Amino acid sequence: MSIKAEEISKLIKQQIESFDSEIEVSDVGTVIEIGDGIARAHGLDNVMSGELVEFSNGTMGLAQNLEESNVGIVILGPYLEIKEGDEVRRTGRIMEVPVGEELLGRVVNPLGQPIDGKGPVETTKARPIEAQAPGVMDRKSVHEPLQTGIKAIDALVPIGRGQRELIIGDRQTGKTTVAVDTIINQKDQDMICIYVAIGQKESTVRSTVETLRKHGALDYTIVVSAGASDPAPLLYLAPYAGVAMGEEFMYNGKHVTVVYDDLSKQAVAYRELSLLLRRPPGREAFPGDVFYIHSRLLERAAKLSDDLGGGSLTALPFVETQAGDIAAYIPTNVISITDGQIFLQSDLFFSGVRPAINAGLSVSRVGGSAQIKAMKKVAGTLRLDLASFRELEAFAQFGSDLDKSTQAKLNRGERTVEVLKQGLNKPLDVEKQVMIFYALTKGFLDDVAVEDITRFEEEMNIWLDNNRKELLNQIKETGNLPEENDMNDAIESFKKTFLPGKNN
Ligand SMILES: Nc1ncnc2c1ncn2[C@@H]1O[C@H](COP(=O)(O)OP(=O)(O)OP(=O)(O)O)[C@@H](O)[C@H]1O
Ligand SMILES: [Mg+2]
Repeated sequence: MSIKAEEISKLIKQQIESFDSEIEVSDVGTVIEIGDGIARAHGLDNVMSGELVEFSNGTMGLAQNLEESNVGIVILGPYLEIKEGDEVRRTGRIMEVPVGEELLGRVVNPLGQPIDGKGPVETTKARPIEAQAPGVMDRKSVHEPLQTGIKAIDALVPIGRGQRELIIGDRQTGKTTVAVDTIINQKDQDMICIYVAIGQKESTVRSTVETLRKHGALDYTIVVSAGASDPAPLLYLAPYAGVAMGEEFMYNGKHVTVVYDDLSKQAVAYRELSLLLRRPPGREAFPGDVFYIHSRLLERAAKLSDDLGGGSLTALPFVETQAGDIAAYIPTNVISITDGQIFLQSDLFFSGVRPAINAGLSVSRVGGSAQIKAMKKVAGTLRLDLASFRELEAFAQFGSDLDKSTQAKLNRGERTVEVLKQGLNKPLDVEKQVMIFYALTKGFLDDVAVEDITRFEEEMNIWLDNNRKELLNQIKETGNLPEENDMNDAIESFKKTFLPGKNN
């Protein structure tokens, strides 16, 4: 009997095919239970925690709980079509998002898919959303300023590039506004911004995007949004997607600011996931590792060493408090892993002090070393002045006759509070901030009526632009405070043109 070559090759092919499927047995599983965005699958023996799996209808999932008899999977997308008995496959990959400059100016979901209706994003690169934070030797201490353009922040709680600064406050206290103004102020500052909106209303995100576009800030910004109606896994993943997009720029030597608005909602989404996965609940029903989801995220903020290109990733996490309680579980967790916090208080906000920053409870642990010299000089004592003013103010309510120096302190304090107020979407260049703080601390404002201060500042800024451009440029370029004579002369000359009480 002769053997045909064809048959042999057919047999071998068959063997190879069945050989494959033998290997695959542990890589394909069956859905045994499904509901509430969570699936349990049997047979995925080799799956890794955090690995991406694919259901037979193409929906992706994230393997979370690895138990002896089954695997708990979080479903990333529509899950109504998935049934018991469906096949689920390992992919051998962990979740990735597209990264690169192509994303600038776009609004995407946490999977990197565009949701702004402007067509596909033509990226060529991707990065895993979970990554190791830079180690000790990869880092350098924070030393360059991140100018937010918000006077109260730049003067009192300065932020450095690569720092993590928490912004915390009740609802409707101007938190998002701080982020938006900071992003607007990054124009021409060699900075890329990523705004991660977690669990916000679509309409709110929409108006934030419009504000950014109107101020020309969208060109250097990526918006990652997981809306209030998106499934919890997407809300949970959004910050990691944002930071992965930022890392791509940081490791290429650029400066990035990532805003997480806000991490309380992410923690709530994670709690939902964990409860559905039947993980044991702890304090406030959060799972035991809720601290870790925030610490591993915020540790990825860094100022890289020169060997690694010197890029930086600044993290501005937001946390919403209930009735000003900064000692609750999530707020204290995040406070402990950031380099300072900016506390926005609702009673200040409603009394008209906006931005409503509580100077006493706000700190920045590294930013001071990142302030430009001129700013450090003029704003050095501001914090203490303000604190002693608040004390005196409470005290003076009872007293009738105040001695001269107390009266002077109160006067100065009132003007300080006034100078620190700032309108919506009006970030101010650092050189102009230096000018107004100089005028304040040298007593040039002491005889200006409190209600005239805002107008004084506005008119002075215009006057300086027209008459003392070189002085402003000098501060901007050298970072040092110009000669006292030049400063005094500029402010005095302007003051002669200022008409008090025009509004009254
Ligand atoms: N500096 C400011 N001057 C005047 N109005 C402001 C200022 N900052 C914020 N606002 C106004 O206060 C309102 C709330 O601001 P914002 O949305 O930033 O607060 P939030 O804390 O992010 O609110 P939410 O809790 O809803 O997210 C907005 O209408 C905004 O226009
Ligand atoms: Mg907000």
